[in-house]
Amino acid sequence: MKQDTTIRIIKELMSQLDENRNIDAGAQYRLPTSDYVCPDLAKREWNSFFREHPQVIGLSGDLPEAGSFFTIDDFGVPVLATRSKDGRFRAFLNACRHRGARVAQQSKGKAARFTCPFHSWTFGNDGRLLAVPDADHFGPVDKDCMGLVELPAEEVAGLLFVHPQPKASLDVESLLGPELLEELQGWNFADYIHVADLDIDMKLNWKLANDTFGETYHFPKLHKNTLGHVFYGNNLHLEEFGRHHRFVTASKGIDALREVPEDQWTITPATFVLYYLFPNIQAICVSTGMNMARIYPDPDNPGRSLTKVNGYFTPEAMAAYEAERAANPDSTNLLTTDNFYTRIAEPGAIRTPETTVEAFSSTVSAEDYVMGEHQQIAAASGLLEHSTFGRNEAPLHHFHSSYREALGRPPLEKIG
Ligand code: FES
Ligand SMILES: [Fe+2]
Repeated sequence: MKQDTTIRIIKELMSQLDENRNIDAGAQYRLPTSDYVCPDLAKREWNSFFREHPQVIGLSGDLPEAGSFFTIDDFGVPVLATRSKDGRFRAFLNACRHRGARVAQQSKGKAARFTCPFHSWTFGNDGRLLAVPDADHFGPVDKDCMGLVELPAEEVAGLLFVHPQPKASLDVESLLGPELLEELQGWNFADYIHVADLDIDMKLNWKLANDTFGETYHFPKLHKNTLGHVFYGNNLHLEEFGRHHRFVTASKGIDALREVPEDQWTITPATFVLYYLFPNIQAICVSTGMNMARIYPDPDNPGRSLTKVNGYFTPEAMAAYEAERAANPDSTNLLTTDNFYTRIAEPGAIRTPETTVEAFSSTVSAEDYVMGEHQQIAAASGLLEHSTFGRNEAPLHHFHSSYREALGRPPLEKIG
């Protein structure tokens, strides 16, 4: 992040804390709760935002070397992502060109070739059809035309983008816009190391899951025994980039910066920085790395969603963890999931891979999404007509307005 942006954000957050105020959107808005339960809307969202829209499927570190691959099945198209010999990220339909069986069975691994379990057609990790057994029985096959169906794929700023439609064009630069793209490039996500995963499958609409990441009003209340140890809550800096946004809130570590010259300020660990990338990515950056949440609807049930969380370390965080563990595997400096919130701010405390996604189990799934399940039940009753978004919940205005605009629907209703 550019230093003048860091200074501008941190000064605003300090002044919100000093003046006991939060972000102020200047108006409240309301959303019909039917948006969380309507099957027709759910169908339109699935088609427009998932089947027909570029998807972020991970970071460069999910394909750490030539031969790495992973599979993903979360948006209606089975995808095989590979890094071929030339180092290039590619994506294919994970479906055999013979009769459609899955060619890659595992969720991730290393393979130069994939042999379909059905009749053993074999494909390279660059998608080429390499071998057809019993070819003389089968009849002629033009191998040049029968490789895996390739999907548009781009690796930009360390993020892996795929378009689920083979014939679509993918232009990440215009998707993100030059300003956001430049900022994302500054984080060096391409060097981050994948260390942990968590799946959260719960009974809440995918937009309610996204709403969790849309305000800090609830931090000192709902999260008083978890995230509230580390972050003040009730303060927020928001900047919109088209349909995407950046959300920054102060950790208690921001106070230490009051004694430090501005040109030495860094955005973390004084804050966490969350990038919402339309339609379904919440990427949370902290000083030791990033957690990326990809939030998917259940195409058959608007009342259910799946959040796939991937935890990544910076190379420095990985080196610190490995050095401490090598020196003493039982070191009490290594954080555990039990002492994570009470000890994370201590000097010398070191994050471990297990604690990377801790906030997503103890805070997001056990607290936020429980609220989301209650909200879903209320919406499904049909008796609570609206949800109200306060002046201090500006990212929710942006999120809901963005997807409504993308579907050609009217904006949120302003209520004062
Ligand atoms: S379906 Fe793959 S080899 Fe037949
Ligand atoms: Fe929360």
